[in-house]
Amino acid sequence: MNTLWNDSLSGFWSAWIIVITLGTIAFSAWILFANRKTDKAPDAEGNVETTGHPADEIEEYDNPLPRWWFHLFVGTILFSLVYLVLYPGLGNFAGLLGWSQEGQWEEEVARAEERFTPIFAQYQEVPIPELARDGEAMQVGERIYQNNCAVCHGANAQGGYGFPNLTDDDWLYGGEPENIVTTLERGRNGLMPSWQQLGEANIENLTQHVLALSDLEHDAESAEQGASLFASVCAACHTPDGTGNQALGAPNLTNDTWLYRAPGQSVADSIRQTLRNGRNGHMPVQQAYIGEERVHVVAAYVYSLRFQD
Ligand code: HEC
Ligand code: HEC
Repeated sequence: MNTLWNDSLSGFWSAWIIVITLGTIAFSAWILFANRKTDKAPDAEGNVETTGHPADEIEEYDNPLPRWWFHLFVGTILFSLVYLVLYPGLGNFAGLLGWSQEGQWEEEVARAEERFTPIFAQYQEVPIPELARDGEAMQVGERIYQNNCAVCHGANAQGGYGFPNLTDDDWLYGGEPENIVTTLERGRNGLMPSWQQLGEANIENLTQHVLALSDLEHDAESAEQGASLFASVCAACHTPDGTGNQALGAPNLTNDTWLYRAPGQSVADSIRQTLRNGRNGHMPVQQAYIGEERVHVVAAYVYSLRFQD
């Protein structure tokens, strides 16, 4: 920050910008001074010089700029020169003040850190269920949520296709404070294999069985045939009764809540698609980006969503 020249541009482009910038200022100054006429008093007969191009018989006087106006222009030129000496503007010349956007940003971040560090340290001491009841902390939590999570889970945290709803009580990985924190610390990768190799007939039977698990309209005979297959291949992850396993992120298939149902898609079609292609939901690690203190506060925010209706 203390050198006068940085290397953000190649030498050529830096020189190019310097020449164009200074050239433009010099050109403006030249126009201003070259057109400056000072003796415009009427001649002996009282005639005043005009520009010589009449329009609709009206002639245009050729008077000099008012003095204050002229000085205003000179002022802007001087201002731009002083500015370009102090601040970055001429290619790679950093300006005598050493100001930079990054520098200003870093300063602001440092100031914010200074302000928030003690607050976050204080929050860190409060257990998540309790912190979730602290209105002020939850405003901070919501801001962290909106900045880091809303892109995927939605501004209202109700999720979307492939992105879990965080406001309901259906949890892939568990909704207890430690589950949420683990999700944020480590990220999550849902692994649901493709079952294409079982063949379409079996996929259909399994689909009908899964529909039956949620008490949805289904073909009873087909569902019956799917049941034994479910017990042998699906139960390992989704448990025999289909209620799911949070250690694996295998969803509960009995509560008619579907992570992978596209808008307008029937439940049956979404299940068929899941079985044919498999699913691989990926939740990126958050802790690496936002740090432990913010993880604690945003986890409390997620936890607090259960109190809102
Ligand atoms: C890039 C998209 C993305 C971002 C950003 C993201 N998530 Fe997620 N999150 C997911 C996906 C996808 C899953 C589901 C993973 C799976 O299917 O196994 C998930 C799962 C979760 C779960 C587990 C839900 C359950 O039912 O157990 C929680 C809690 C969660 N996210 C909270 C957050 C919070 C808080 C943030 C912000 C700090 C965040 N996520 C940022 C995509 C994202
Ligand atoms: C290896 C463990 C595993 C096995 C075996 C498995 N699943 Fe899954 N299943 C998962 C996981 C994990 C997910 C969530 C994927 C994600 O989050 O992206 C899932 C998701 C699903 C979904 C989507 C639910 C929704 O909310 O959209 C359905 C339906 C499903 N499985 C049915 C089955 C059926 C039927 C079988 C047996 C053929 C089966 N699964 C076998 C682990 C498994």
